[in-house]
Amino acid sequence: MKRIAVFTSGGDSPGMNAAVRAVVRTSIFHGYQAVGIMRGYEGLIDNELKILESQDVSGIIHQGGTILQTARSARFMTKEGRAIAYQNLKALNVEGVVAIGGDGTFTGAKIFMEEYPDVHFVGLPGTIDNDLLGSDYTIGFDTAVNTAMQAIDKIKDTANAHNRIFFVEVMGRDAGFIALRSAISTGAEALLIPETEDNLPALATLLKNNILKKKRSNIVIVAEGDEAGGAFEVSKIIKGEIPGADIRVTILGHIQRGGSPTCMDRVLATRLGSEAVECLIRGESGFMLGQIHTQIVKTPFGNAIKHHDKIPVALLNLIETLG
Ligand code: F6P
Repeated sequence: MKRIAVFTSGGDSPGMNAAVRAVVRTSIFHGYQAVGIMRGYEGLIDNELKILESQDVSGIIHQGGTILQTARSARFMTKEGRAIAYQNLKALNVEGVVAIGGDGTFTGAKIFMEEYPDVHFVGLPGTIDNDLLGSDYTIGFDTAVNTAMQAIDKIKDTANAHNRIFFVEVMGRDAGFIALRSAISTGAEALLIPETEDNLPALATLLKNNILKKKRSNIVIVAEGDEAGGAFEVSKIIKGEIPGADIRVTILGHIQRGGSPTCMDRVLATRLGSEAVECLIRGESGFMLGQIHTQIVKTPFGNAIKHHDKIPVALLNLIETLG
């Protein structure tokens, strides 16, 4: 029987399960057998593959994490590891593979397809970081920013109660997308992201003035990849400038990766997951599927991993205007 495989790889993101469900059900709909590969490329090398029936993906659309589990594989970065992975795929008669992950996942898929041209991969953007070119949003980003927003709303309550300055660090690796949206949606006073140069003296002046104006809370969102080194480092510098300020730091961390996906992430994951199977059946592969202005778009793996969209300046300016 013809088979289509699916795996999740790299950092998990909310909506991965919805994508897996769509891949499995669309494969079965077209008369294919669906194969789940456990723990990404690691499971492919260790031959942890299992047939997935329709009922295996029942009741998972609303669950965070990934039923296929995930891993970052050092072994797949070696020629020997990829040779074993190839043998395992061929032994199972897999025609095409849907790879759900981020830039590491697609880098692996690109190299694998160059070495073994009879292997066919289609990628889906599964990462909370939103750092891939070829999709307005990645699967999991919307849930992550909503999680961050809700957490920061709570921090704002306590900041208000104590007249405190909070430095809140959010995830995003080298990208500031989570930070930008978290800052706008919570009315944060300032934002530090890797895409723009920090001006810490100006930040200190802003916060001093806010204290003088008796602003009760000041929230500064710091992207983990910011050049200043993170929320603790920035807070120390600002404390040096405003010794009397009551300052606290919160690192939101991995809560941003978990939780039930939002409607937006579920729909995006479902649409892209189903289309990935349609592509493989049509004989198309070698790209990541994304959604731009509601349209499904194919971006070759090499391009998707090279860049990400620019931070929208219009949104960035809002922080200064309103903060
Ligand atoms: O890529 C997703 C992400 O959550 C990044 O935002 C973060 O930098 C990284 O993964 C954390 O990785 P780990 O879970 O391995 O600590």
